[in-house]
Amino acid sequence: ASGKFFVGGNWKCNGTKDTISKLITDLNSAKLEADVDVVVAPPFVYIDQVKNSLADRFEISAQNSWTGKGGAFTGEISVEQLKDIGCKWVILGHSERRHVIGEDDQFIGKKAAYALSQDLKVMACIGEKLEEREAGKTFDVCYQQLKAFADNIPSWDGVVIAYEPVWAIGTGKVASPQQAQEVHVAVRDWLKKNVSAEVASKTRIIYGGSVNGSNCAELAKQDDIDGFLVGGASLKGPEFATIVNSVT
Ligand code: G3H
Repeated sequence: ASGKFFVGGNWKCNGTKDTISKLITDLNSAKLEADVDVVVAPPFVYIDQVKNSLADRFEISAQNSWTGKGGAFTGEISVEQLKDIGCKWVILGHSERRHVIGEDDQFIGKKAAYALSQDLKVMACIGEKLEEREAGKTFDVCYQQLKAFADNIPSWDGVVIAYEPVWAIGTGKVASPQQAQEVHVAVRDWLKKNVSAEVASKTRIIYGGSVNGSNCAELAKQDDIDGFLVGGASLKGPEFATIVNSVT
């Protein structure tokens, strides 16, 4: 494993003021292992509410950011604004942004570079679709997505890589510990060959895709799984706490 265990909760486009207030209460009262970085990513409009009432033990992430400084970009949110309201992180390259919204590698790489340049840390997401896995292209797809980050960013400090096979996201079909470990090792090897041995050994690689309170412990035992990016189960305080506490 590399560095401190890291668990991110990606709330996606879910919640209301009321449900989020309840989730904050549950998170604030949860008993969490100390040696874990815990980051939650609320929808933009609730970040301020979360910042004002969630304990400082949690860091806050955005789910997206603009490619550069703000200005005449209707509907976008700038890195500067995210920092202004207390975000420390942003999730970039999530499969929903790649495959539902249509963001491409270069656009994502540019966003990552700008976020890092302003000291906003990045959860850099990669992962193959089911047909790509079935065609034996899992590693190639992940390498291409990694390369787009590598070609754009000045340094891997402040980056956590999230491996999220698209077929496992929101489907209940979690990758087996062996399937996840195999890709995490490949990602680390890629970093070693293409970036540096130091970055390969220091960068945390977390797994996402149908992680829940029941399957997290087996996944967390794998040598190269350094934490999780959790979607659905992060909306339930006690279950999210179980996942945080799966640190080995
Ligand atoms: O960012 C989180 C992932 O997309 C996983 O979502 O846990 O609901 O499968 P999920």
